[in-house]
Amino acid sequence: MTKQPGWRAHWIGLPSRSSRDARGALYFRKRFMVRGAPASGKLRIAACGLFEAILNGRKVGQDHLTPGWPDYRRRTYSMTYDIAEMLFAGQENVLGVTLYEGWYSTYLSEPKFHIRYGDDPMLLAELSWTDHRGKPAFVGTDSQWEVGDGPITSASLYHGESYDSRLAVDYHSTARTLQSPKLEISEKICPPVRVREEIQPKAITAAGNSRWICDFGENVAGWVRLQVRAKRGTPITLRFGEMLESDGSLYTANLRSARATDSYICSGKGTEVWEPKTTFHGFRYVEVTGLPESPTPATITAVVVYSDLPEAGTFECSDPLLNQLQRCIVRSQKGNFIDLPTDCPQRDERLGWAGDAQIFCKTALYNQQAAPLFRQWMQAMRDGQRKDGAFPDIAPHIILDHGSAGWSDAGVIVPWTVWRMTGNREILEENFAAMMRHVRWIAKANPSGIRADRMFGDWLAVDAKYPQHAPTPKDLIGTAYYARIVQQLAQIASALDRRDEARRLLILVKEIRRAFAKEYVTTTGRVVGDTQTGYLLALAFDLVPRAVRPAAISHLIRTIEERDWHLSTGFLGTPLLCPVLASVGRADIAWKVVLQKTYPGWLYPVLNGATTMWERWDSWTKERGFGDVGMNSFNHYAYGAIGEFLYATVGGLDQTDDSIGFSRLRIAPKPGGGVTWARTTHQTPHGQAEVEWSAKGKRLDVKVNLPPRTTGVLDFPGMRRPLRVRSGIHELRVRQT
Ligand code: BGC
Repeated sequence: MTKQPGWRAHWIGLPSRSSRDARGALYFRKRFMVRGAPASGKLRIAACGLFEAILNGRKVGQDHLTPGWPDYRRRTYSMTYDIAEMLFAGQENVLGVTLYEGWYSTYLSEPKFHIRYGDDPMLLAELSWTDHRGKPAFVGTDSQWEVGDGPITSASLYHGESYDSRLAVDYHSTARTLQSPKLEISEKICPPVRVREEIQPKAITAAGNSRWICDFGENVAGWVRLQVRAKRGTPITLRFGEMLESDGSLYTANLRSARATDSYICSGKGTEVWEPKTTFHGFRYVEVTGLPESPTPATITAVVVYSDLPEAGTFECSDPLLNQLQRCIVRSQKGNFIDLPTDCPQRDERLGWAGDAQIFCKTALYNQQAAPLFRQWMQAMRDGQRKDGAFPDIAPHIILDHGSAGWSDAGVIVPWTVWRMTGNREILEENFAAMMRHVRWIAKANPSGIRADRMFGDWLAVDAKYPQHAPTPKDLIGTAYYARIVQQLAQIASALDRRDEARRLLILVKEIRRAFAKEYVTTTGRVVGDTQTGYLLALAFDLVPRAVRPAAISHLIRTIEERDWHLSTGFLGTPLLCPVLASVGRADIAWKVVLQKTYPGWLYPVLNGATTMWERWDSWTKERGFGDVGMNSFNHYAYGAIGEFLYATVGGLDQTDDSIGFSRLRIAPKPGGGVTWARTTHQTPHGQAEVEWSAKGKRLDVKVNLPPRTTGVLDFPGMRRPLRVRSGIHELRVRQT
């Protein structure tokens, strides 16, 4: 039996392949003696699937959905826990590990794809300790471990968990040792998923036939804890949804094939408290069926989980709608940062879509210290990289393609953004070779500099009849992104002191820029397609020849004015809209667009009751009800990329173009839109930065706190020239012109 390199224990699994019909949890157990009082002890554990370890009746650690979701075709994660305190000295100890399908052997994605990495979950664990004399002792997974079935009778990420509390764990066989899979095991990088919040229902409504609907007031990701007294054998069913139909029933059509249903069968022993371990749902509403009497707020609690990343910033201003928008962004970030950046947490998808991750990355880093999550995710991007060098469009890779413009390019954009925002160079070093391979692959396939692309384009743009049929030409988008990532990679190369590569990449950028201008920019500054997204990409990525830049800016403004100051952009254009307008001196138009209360725009969902970012501007409207169910998530952070504009332009907390990790801050708020004050904070690598401004008529009062070892450029409307300052508190009063 081959062993996992670096491990003494054996991989173990089911006694035999056919021994399990229902896909419930597998329960493993090992009894062992501990002589003397242990001075130290640790549990190192890895799985294909999810594990929960229980030592002497106590859960090891406080983590959930462990070890997370790696690209199981190449890797799994291990986790190490200090368990010295949990061992019983001089007597028998019991280590139990429950193993679930998780992301390893559940079918993922829509039924037409139905992908899974492996048939049955597998476990590898080592418990080691030293006794009081310093003698090492060890217990590892092997064929001596007992294995059985128990109360978790089915366990599925999309469909939910079934738990029969009448069942005790029945250890009926011993484990089978398995050939070591061809996987690398690496210690997990991202802090694990933990319970971060608990929410009581805001309202409970009777829905007839022993059914109730609980409203938690916010669209979250996690599960619920149930507290119940009922007769033995009483089945209780919990169904989850993000919205309600007009008749008050649960709206679940947008979950597609995900059943999102948990069920619990009561043991009848007093007050029973239960929560699932093997699943999570995206929900605001829960329908409970089968309770013997009306629930109270204590009956059901929302347990909100996400990766345990520290907060990094806050944004607040005088406009309650913008504040609600910021709350929606943060809520969607948390709901989708469950071990990796996903598109949505509710339907039969929940995948690490790279396009969504790259457009949201900067905003995410303003909100949370999320660098470890992106570093871990980049490991999955590298694991999914195709032989020819193309990065995948989804990581961990399961389905679909590689190399799509704006999606696979996240393999360069995400490390660059993390480096700029946090100063983390590790992510550059780890990914440099892979990034070079991706760029070389594009260069080889597109020697003219014009990059062919047929995939997602400006996904879900306002005029697109089908999500992928947006009017901005896909090769234009592809070429713009090609220029963008080569330019970013040139900067990365020089940061890593790879001068040759940097020089060659800069030459390549020039060639792509030239090709772009020739193919897509007319001599009068029009960009082919005449769409907002076309102008935005060309301007944001510096692809418009200087002579016609003013004209291109005017065309961009015209395309916004033609829509009565509304956006028409999709996933790739939307994040650029306000930052580009602000950077060309037209923050006034950015304000107009961002404050639009009518469709399409950020405040339209907010006014329609959103508590998270929606996938579509009109995912639900008073007039037309729900949007197309094929693609209608109510927890999709993509359009939340507006967050960077709130922090950097409304709040005014940003860094200069040459700054890394906020070592040189640029404090340049652009008051407007009737907003009278804003307060922004951000935890930079040097400490907390704060900007607070308030406007009274033409007067602007600004208070800035720059962290130690930083410098700042203060640039407020009305100042004759920017002011250079050092760390510390600066208070200024200016008259706006
Ligand atoms: C996802 C998107 C994703 C897209 C790819 C969708 O199903 O939900 O957010 O980026 O597919 O085009």
